[in-house]
Amino acid sequence: MGRQIEVTELILRDAHQSLMATRMAMEDMVPVCEDLDNAGFWSLECWGGATYDACIRYLNEDPWERLRTFRELMPKTRLQMLLRGQNLLGYRHYEDGVVERFCDKAAKNGMDVFRIFDALNDLRNLKTAIDAVKRTGKEAQGTICYTVSPVHTTEAFIEMAQQLKDMGADSICIKDMAALLKPQPAYDLVRGIKQTCGEDTRIHLHCHATTGVTFVSLMKAIEAGCDVVDTSVSSLSLGSGHNPTEALVEMLEGTGYETRLDLKRIRPVRDHFAEVRKRYRHFMSDFTVIDTDIFESQIPGGMLSNMENQLKGQGAGDRVREVMEEVPRVRADSGFPPLVTPSSQIVGTQAVFNVLTGRYKTMTSEFADLMLGYYGTTQGEKNAEVLQQAEAQQQKPAITGRPADLLEPEWDQLRDAAAALEGFNGSDEDVLTYAMFPQVSTKFFKTRHEGAKSLAKDPEASKTTEAPAPAAGAGGAARKDPVTYVVTLNGREHQVRVSPAA
Ligand code: CO
Repeated sequence: MGRQIEVTELILRDAHQSLMATRMAMEDMVPVCEDLDNAGFWSLECWGGATYDACIRYLNEDPWERLRTFRELMPKTRLQMLLRGQNLLGYRHYEDGVVERFCDKAAKNGMDVFRIFDALNDLRNLKTAIDAVKRTGKEAQGTICYTVSPVHTTEAFIEMAQQLKDMGADSICIKDMAALLKPQPAYDLVRGIKQTCGEDTRIHLHCHATTGVTFVSLMKAIEAGCDVVDTSVSSLSLGSGHNPTEALVEMLEGTGYETRLDLKRIRPVRDHFAEVRKRYRHFMSDFTVIDTDIFESQIPGGMLSNMENQLKGQGAGDRVREVMEEVPRVRADSGFPPLVTPSSQIVGTQAVFNVLTGRYKTMTSEFADLMLGYYGTTQGEKNAEVLQQAEAQQQKPAITGRPADLLEPEWDQLRDAAAALEGFNGSDEDVLTYAMFPQVSTKFFKTRHEGAKSLAKDPEASKTTEAPAPAAGAGGAARKDPVTYVVTLNGREHQVRVSPAA
């Protein structure tokens, strides 16, 4: 008997977040829950990330109800979520009391494993969530966002893993959202963490498939001692998604490693989602094959489909390549943040603006705040000129402390504000929904009683915000008026007017 490799199944969260803009309705997941629960997975990732936002923004579905339903339908297997540290599932930093309440409520509603990360790898932004999860007795998984830059070395990542362990993390996740982790670095990183943090440190590896190299990275990581790998059932895999679960099982044959997965349980899941994906065609990313240019642009799967949708919605779909080339420059200017929510959207949107209007002609306040340290510290130095512009624009100084230390307790105020809303149900869960998505929840609370709606059946309702069509000149003359682009960042719309090139 070889060493047993455990598997986290992603199809209920990251797979559809990466491949179909997080739009999958609960009714399309319920039929496979029993098979998934009995297939032998270490955990089922099913909540967090962008699913909470998508539930209330597009699906008229209560995310807490979704979690409780998963718990009921999958009693045997650990449920896992992705949590953005001090940002929770929203897009700003929350005061510690809100973070603590969120973790407590998620645990009480059935969550077992909290994979906690910070987009900038500023570990100070994980501390409160790790402590709060540990108090509930559930698993706090400390996460390293893997990225490649002049300042991100294997040694630096190993050091980060040790710091996470020192902070009390129960396990370590290497999160490779952009499929940048090549096989040999995967081996070196896993081996290094095991050697430094102890062989009994459980290591999880989360890789996307976008560049085509990471299926081999999974194998090398396993050879180096990786304990749990993330995959997704094949009918919703690859492209900007993940490596296929069934292929992992087959690949390991004869290697001395094996999973405990039951393929007989996985086949019906595969067949189910093969049908489901057809009904969500209109949300599927165009990037469904392999793209090694990402080694230069570093754009993760979710961000790619997001940016693509935004540009398409503005009739600027042909400028995707230009934006992809601008992203690494913006990233270097901002101190080489890893690109993952929300830094991916912040850097990505700034890159979109730089391409459409000229470099830093328009600076989003989010990007300015990133420059000024209000999301945390980046590993690299920032471009001094851009930093100065950010300071001038925001009329506030750069900071080096933990951003949440600037916040006053806000729970009571949030509760009062939520209580005033039509349809508020009085629960702390609703307060949390309001805290993370004040505008969207105001609308959601009102319409919640109408019940969840599936966008698979109603493709018209799913269209992204469209800018008003540019006024066509009389007689169909070439347009001379500036075009207004609407770019959605962190749930807020930014408008930018661009004059047609002369
Ligand atoms: Co992912």
